[in-house]
Order: sequence, then structure tokens, then C-alpha cells
Amino acid sequence: MQQHFLIPDSWVNLAYVAAAILFIVGLKGLTHPRTAVRGNLQSALGMLLAVVVTLLADGLAYQWILLGALIGGLVGGIAAVRVRMTQMPEMVALFNGFGGGASVLVAGAAFMLTADPGARTTVSTGLSGLIGSVTFTGSLIAFGKLAEILPGGQIGLPGLKAFNALMGAAALACVGWLTVDPTATEAYWIIVAIAGVLGVTLTIPIGGADMPVVISLLNSYSGLAAAATGFVLMNNVLIIAGSLVGASGIILTRIMCKAMNRSLGHVLFGSLGPGADGPSADDVYGGKVKATSPDEVAMLFDTARRVLFVPGYGLAVAQAQHVVKNLAGILEGRGIVVEYGIHPVAGRMPGHMNVLLAEADVPYEQLKEMDEINQEIEQVDVCMVIGANDVVNPVARTDPRSPIAGMPIIDVDKARTVVVVKRSLSPGFAGIPNPLFAADNCLMLFGDGKKALMELVESLKNS
Ligand code: TAP
Repeated sequence: MQQHFLIPDSWVNLAYVAAAILFIVGLKGLTHPRTAVRGNLQSALGMLLAVVVTLLADGLAYQWILLGALIGGLVGGIAAVRVRMTQMPEMVALFNGFGGGASVLVAGAAFMLTADPGARTTVSTGLSGLIGSVTFTGSLIAFGKLAEILPGGQIGLPGLKAFNALMGAAALACVGWLTVDPTATEAYWIIVAIAGVLGVTLTIPIGGADMPVVISLLNSYSGLAAAATGFVLMNNVLIIAGSLVGASGIILTRIMCKAMNRSLGHVLFGSLGPGADGPSADDVYGGKVKATSPDEVAMLFDTARRVLFVPGYGLAVAQAQHVVKNLAGILEGRGIVVEYGIHPVAGRMPGHMNVLLAEADVPYEQLKEMDEINQEIEQVDVCMVIGANDVVNPVARTDPRSPIAGMPIIDVDKARTVVVVKRSLSPGFAGIPNPLFAADNCLMLFGDGKKALMELVESLKNS
């Protein structure tokens, strides 16, 4: 379907090229915390340009567009203000789902309005319906699991893989049907229905633990669905933007899988959970855990010259980033070198810790990536682990049968003294005990991350 614009096509395409350049430069900026805010603005500017130019298309009913923008803007604005940082993965899941759903509706409507659709239009409409619908229902399931509306664990159903293969083949056969007979509009809705079921059956067996990877993959799918819709509408900027989302989503999926030492196939069809024969918490901790107090930890800093903070998901839950910065300031005032060790999958989303620490204005130079800090960790006098668990669990190195075996970790157990701040001995995301807590050089400062650190700050001020 060729659109007609109120300005010459050459100007439209020039603006689309400018928008595409802004997207790419913006994406590049997002690769480093220092340039991320600027990158975000550049991409947003590209999107604004693309939207404004697209609105100059002939024959648009602006009242409907305005109404849609108002309702969408209101819902998005309220959600952006109310959703907590720890709920961000759920929110991203919903966004992906709506992106897929929008592609289904737009491609379907454009197809119905096309007088004599050629093979390009029918194939891309069929693919948009298929990928968009999988993305929509798959994302809703992912949202439900993360929000704990649906059971988060793995659900194994016999014969599910064969069923999925059959459904996928049936959906592709319907794309073929639509291509051969473009008048068979019912084929499109059959594709959407089958793919909707497929989205559910592909996502439901995957455990909540792997959901962030699945969400990143669904994000990639939503981009592919948008790119396919771009081919239906013959809209260049939608093709480019969709492809960029598709490619960056799959790259992010790969990075996350690598940081968890899992293959994508294992995430989608494998399992993660406590090994049946793994040691129990009693075996690991029994009589070996040493609890400490804020006053005792304050004394450790009397002789320390180098301190490392290792934040994890619990820091986000406790919202302790500002008090950590405060504590770091006091230590630096005493001439102590302070650094932060950042694990690539600490927290529940990529860059989670970077975002939290940036919020508290922690200088970027103090953030050390896992590989870098691991080389020097023996020289750290006091390592404070705040709400992190799996990303500092030494069994990843030592027990090949552990569900996190081979996952790269921050080797905090090699620091001179380790203080772990968390509320109890509860396991982290992977659901397994952590022998670090029972190690000779480890002290447990039990309590909510923010409260415990505030007490520590008080103790330091009084000492
Ligand atoms: P986790 O292993 O999930 O451990 C977090 C710990 O924080 C818990 O053991 C919990 O212990 C503690 N905690 C919770 N609330 C707290 C509070 N208010 N104050 C203090 N502590 C609190 O976190 P991690 O070490 O950051 O590891 C992340 C995990 O998520 C990894 O397994 C990773 O593979 C997985 N994952 C991450 C991502 C991304 S992209 N980041 C994606 C997929 C999966 P208590 O209950 O005892 O306090």
C-alpha cells in the first residue's frame, strides 16, 4: 500500500533517512552510561521527526489519531510515574505485547484496504500477523508470570514441543494460503488465532527465572513484526526502526544468555531450578554463619584502604542507592578508595545496577565491570555485598551440577573480608543456597539494605 504525502516524496524520504541516522546514533549512545541520556534524546528526536513526517500523509483522519494519542499518552504517562523500578521488566513485557498487537491490527487493516495485493503484501501481512500475535500473547504470559498473576515456575506438559511445531507449521501454511489466494482474508485471522495460541504455549513452560531473557527475545519479535508491517505499508522508516529493534533485541538476548552461561535453546526449552541432588540450606549453613552488627562493620573500616560495593537485586528492592553513595562519601573522606563491582545480570534487567547508581550520582569512573574487578579482588580489604546473591555465589565456579554452574560471578569470596547485607539466608533468583554466607571471611549484616546501611552510617559518624 503506497502512501501519498502532502509534501514531495523526496522530502519524506530525506526526513526518514535523518530519523534513521538519529536512531542509530542514539543506539550507539545507549552503549555507555555517560552518553546514554543523550542517546535516548537523539533516538526520541528521530522518532518525533518520523511521526511528524508520517502525519503529513494524505487523507488521514486526525481526530482519531489525536484521540488515540491522548488515550495512549495518558495511560503511558500514568504508568511511567507509578511503576516502580523493580517492576520495569513487567512494563517492558506489556510494551512489547502492545507493539506486536498493533502490528497485527495495522497490517491486517492495511491488507483489507489494498485493492489488488501482490505477493510482497500478502507475505509480509501474513508474517506480521504471525509474529505480532505470538509477541502479543507471549508477552501477556511473560507479564503474568513476572507480576505473579500466573504461576512463575516451569510448567512441563507432555507433547508440547510437538504441538508447538504443528501449530507453527499450520500458521506458515496459512501464510502460503494467503499468498496464493489474496482474497482469502479469513486466512489472515486464522494465522492470528493460531499464532496467539502458539505465543501462550511457547511461553507458559518457561520458568519465571528466565523471563527477562524471554522478554528481550519478544522485544526482538515485536521489532520484526513492525518491520513486516513496514513492508505492508511500504513505509521505509517503519522497516528501518523495526529492523533495528529486531537486531538489538536479539543481541541483548545473546548478551544476557552469555552472562548467565546459558544457551538460548536451553532458556526456551531447558530448565533452571535447584538441582534435585543439590545440598540443602542446612548442609551449607549449619552453624557456620556469623552475624555482625553495624558497629562491628564500622570498625572494619578503621584499617581498610580499599572498599568494594557489590550491588544486587536487593539494593533495588530496598532503594538503598542513595545511602550507599552517602556511605561511600564518608569512607572517601577517610582516604579509603571506594569502587563498585557491576555484574552484567545483577538485578532483574540489563543495566539495572548502572541505572540505580546513576540515580544516586555515583561517578562512572568508580564502576568496575566484573572482569576488571575480578583481577584485583584479592586487594580489596572490605567487600560489601548489598542485596546480591546469585551473582556472587561461588558454586558457579565450584559445582558443575549446580543450576548456575559456569555462570561468571564476581569473586567476592576472594576479598580479604566480605560483609553481606540482606534480610535473611533466603536464596536469590536461582533458588539455591550460597556457601559464601558460611565462608570464614564472611560476615552477615542481616536487615533491609537501606535500614542496615543507614545504621552503619550512624555508627561511622559516632566512631
Ligand atoms: P538475587 O540472586 O536474586 O538475590 C537478591 C537477594 O536480595 C536475595 O537473596 C534477597 O535476600 C535480597 N534482598 C531482597 N530484598 C532485600 C532488601 N530489601 N534488602 C536487602 N536485601 C534484599 O540477585 P542478584 O545477585 O542481583 O542476581 C540476579 C539474578 O537474576 C541472577 O540469578 C540472574 O541470572 C537473574 N537474572 C537477571 C537478569 C538481568 S538482565 N539482570 C535477567 C534474567 C535473570 P533476602 O530475602 O534474604 O533479603
